[in-house]
Amino acid sequence: MRSFTNRQLFQKFLAPTSDSPLALEIVKAKGIYLYDKEGKSYIDLISGIAVSNVGHRNKKIISAIKKQLDLYMHLMVYGEYIQSPQVLLAQALVNSTKIPSLNQVYFTNSGTEAVEGAMKLAKRYTGRTNFISCINAYHGSTQGALSLAGDENFKNSFRPLLPNITHIHYGCEEDLVHINNKTAAIIIEIIGGESGVRKASKSYFKSLRKRCDETGTLLIIDEIQTGFGRTGTFWAYEEMEIVPDVLLTAKGMGGGMPIGAFIANKNLMKSLSFDPVLGHITTFGGHPVNCAASLATLNYIIDENLMEKVPSKSQLFKDLLIHPMIKEVRAAGLMIAVEFENFEIIQKIIANCLKSGLITDWFLFCNNSLRIAPPLIITKKEIKIACKIILQAINEVEKEIKS
Ligand SMILES: Cc1ncc(COP(=O)(O)O)c(C=O)c1O
Repeated sequence: MRSFTNRQLFQKFLAPTSDSPLALEIVKAKGIYLYDKEGKSYIDLISGIAVSNVGHRNKKIISAIKKQLDLYMHLMVYGEYIQSPQVLLAQALVNSTKIPSLNQVYFTNSGTEAVEGAMKLAKRYTGRTNFISCINAYHGSTQGALSLAGDENFKNSFRPLLPNITHIHYGCEEDLVHINNKTAAIIIEIIGGESGVRKASKSYFKSLRKRCDETGTLLIIDEIQTGFGRTGTFWAYEEMEIVPDVLLTAKGMGGGMPIGAFIANKNLMKSLSFDPVLGHITTFGGHPVNCAASLATLNYIIDENLMEKVPSKSQLFKDLLIHPMIKEVRAAGLMIAVEFENFEIIQKIIANCLKSGLITDWFLFCNNSLRIAPPLIITKKEIKIACKIILQAINEVEKEIKS
């Protein structure tokens, strides 16, 4: 007989990341819904944090995974054997960029590892050690990626971290002077994710590209949260009409499986293969099952034209989320932040939504805004239901404050 419930095992054996985890016990997922063991359904309005772009347990992804499972799983560390899922995905990713200079792919297990690989690539290729990132940006949790994080409180307990990193204000053209001929790379998102869906202008990105060219600095675009259709184009940089030197992807890339990549020109990539040889290696990066899932995800987004309806779905959220307590709605496709007065209000709204079967969240470096990032397959009918639940949750908080 089992002596512990899963909840007890969770509390006893799983290392915590906070003292207040959601601790939902989910037994099944399908489409935009998660189901707990009592059979209660939840609308996943955050896609497991911008991952399930094609919905949970998408049939096409499951079938690609099963097909690959019947052939082989791990064979050898990354970069040695020719594996069909890897090479086909690499080709599809390169084609998806529509940029001839982005022509080789290095596979990783996660977004953070894509960031780490890109940082090493920039150091090795430029021979420089300085990096620039943005205030309130998040690029991952390992020590290199964490050094880039633009929030001092988040880093203080883990110092010393990497030296020679300057943080600039996102979207501020004057700050671009900090990029100079000692800078190996600037790493930046097209839409600030954990800063709460922040947008910079096309002219800012044009100036940024120009400054990088003038100083020989690599432009690393982090599309770990924005890529794979999330903002309405396959890659968010398409809207800015700029050419990245290195493109980072993960999260939605795997259709629910763990995979990431950095994509760059083969001349840059070559520098990781000598002096020293095997200068950047990974055992599981580009796992064949995850590559098969990712290729099916990429094809599904393109074949089903999931991006086409992203703007009208985004607009529907904006049209429906109107309430005196809402201060602002910031949206980049289906990456949406709904701003309120403070964190206490957000927490109450999230709790009320959860009771009514809807999952939302806040942002790492923006805790007065509600995170909305549903699977791209969400229908307009489902958006109306979700917004009704959110508005109800806000009304309850308003009533509580007024009483
Ligand atoms: C923009 C961005 N970069 C990097 C990462 C790190 O990715 P991962 O959690 O897959 O390591 C994240 C994760 O939230 C992210 O949002």
